[in-house]
Amino acid sequence: MSEPILVAVAWPYASGSRHLGHLAGAYLPADVFARYQRLVGRDVLMVSGSDVHGTPITVRADDEGVTPQDIVDRYHGEFVRQWEELGVSWDLYTTTGTENHAAVTQEMFLKQLEAGHIDRRMSDQFFDPEAERFLPDRYVEGTCPHCSYADARGDQCDNCGRTLDAVELGDPRSKLSGATPVLRETEHFYYRYSDFNDRIKEWLTSREGWRPHVQNFAMGWLEEGLHDRAITRDIEWGIDLPVDDLGPGKRIYVWYDAVIGYLSASKEWAASTGDPEAWRRWWENPDAKSYYFVGKDNIPFHCLFWPAQLMGAGDLQLPTNVPANQYVTFKGGKASASRGIGLTIQEGLDRFQPDGIRFALAAAFPEQADTEISEGEIARRINEELVATWGNLVNRVLSMTNKNCDGQVLAPGELSADDAEILAVVDKAIEDAAAHFEAVELRAALRVAMASAQAVNAYLNALEPWRTVKTDLDRGRTILHTALSAINGVRVLFAPFLPFSSAQLDEVLGQISGWQRDELAVGTIIDKPTPLFAKVDLEALEAAASLSEA
Ligand code: MF3
Ligand code: ZN
Repeated sequence: MSEPILVAVAWPYASGSRHLGHLAGAYLPADVFARYQRLVGRDVLMVSGSDVHGTPITVRADDEGVTPQDIVDRYHGEFVRQWEELGVSWDLYTTTGTENHAAVTQEMFLKQLEAGHIDRRMSDQFFDPEAERFLPDRYVEGTCPHCSYADARGDQCDNCGRTLDAVELGDPRSKLSGATPVLRETEHFYYRYSDFNDRIKEWLTSREGWRPHVQNFAMGWLEEGLHDRAITRDIEWGIDLPVDDLGPGKRIYVWYDAVIGYLSASKEWAASTGDPEAWRRWWENPDAKSYYFVGKDNIPFHCLFWPAQLMGAGDLQLPTNVPANQYVTFKGGKASASRGIGLTIQEGLDRFQPDGIRFALAAAFPEQADTEISEGEIARRINEELVATWGNLVNRVLSMTNKNCDGQVLAPGELSADDAEILAVVDKAIEDAAAHFEAVELRAALRVAMASAQAVNAYLNALEPWRTVKTDLDRGRTILHTALSAINGVRVLFAPFLPFSSAQLDEVLGQISGWQRDELAVGTIIDKPTPLFAKVDLEALEAAASLSEA
């Protein structure tokens, strides 16, 4: 059996539409990576789902006067449709609202309780005297104790990224009534994260090939050490506790349960295949690898808290790597100015082809630092890079082959040094890109793909087969064969990034057999091609932008 690879992807809150920045931050890189791993022949399990618990959902439901479940249904439905349209190739995309997820969460809780890593404590929490309710997490906003940012949420500061305890906020205000919250005593279960400080430090220190910004952030946190954290809340929306020690009105905290989704989704997937034990290949096998694709605000949860929860639950595999991304910020782009957060995924899909969005975002994946992108930049990359370099190359060579080679792949004549060289260049690119993919350097892999497409263009421009076919048909045909052979390699490089146009090329050239350039099958019919991509109509885009501005 080939090497098992778990591709674990952050679970988006089903509390609002996601943006292209989220897409570039986690879901798209995960999909590109998973598609590469499958092509290499690895045993990939890619899971995620909608995070349906917590105050992001209930705050929104309160605002709109609907139930939390209404909110969840709306956005989960939206996400599922968009993954399909974008070609995100989940093995399972589920939700944390399933019975299976609740059962797996409760089972883990009981294991950790039994092992002494969970205990009960009294503490003072914020209470809204007007609404007569406790105010967990996002029900309170105030000043961050670490960076003094004035609008920090009760669970995390958007400015400095630290996770917070609502009671640490300065100048607290209730999101429910605007009232100043008062402290009231309440009892909760705590996870003893501090039990794992030494083991986490040892484990993190031994990680190799991690992105420096991820490892540094996590190690920096450990200087202070992990604190024990409440893993229950005074709230009615969430997973029930498996024990009734605390009385009614308490639920499991969203961040304790959401990360367990990786495990529960693996189990749900296994059950759906008819082999309910299959999840063990990824979770109990020391040879399995796991990659967690998340945005940088999720680093503490995946590099510290989830590993500590896993350590407290027995012998499950810890993350191999957490290739967290920084942020994509949107600039310019009139449609985005009003919100300042860029296009929603839906707005992106309304304007651009899925492969075009995927290409432009992949070129800007914020792997090491924040990157900026705009609507115009996406359009430019599609027209000037994707269409001009790759789309036109494929179109040109297929058209010339159709016209000059009896509409099929003919056996080539003897290869010249130039011919042999371009094929060698492509083969080397396939090898180089593999090293980048293994290191989760997806932007670099895309650059290699583009460079090899450019090399094939340069080869064509130097050898001018459109002239040669008129003077020496056999030689002209060999050049065209070589160019098509090279394209047959370059398409392997683009396949993880561009699933839709890749499928279209598969129809013509046959399935890709693996991470290598296959020889063309002589006799393959080459019809007059349909272009892989459409150019973005910049004028129409401008017009639409100024309309929405008006
Ligand atoms: N819902 C969280 C967010 O949008 C991410 C959860 S990732 C998980 O930030 F692993 F915890 F599920
Ligand atoms: Zn802060």
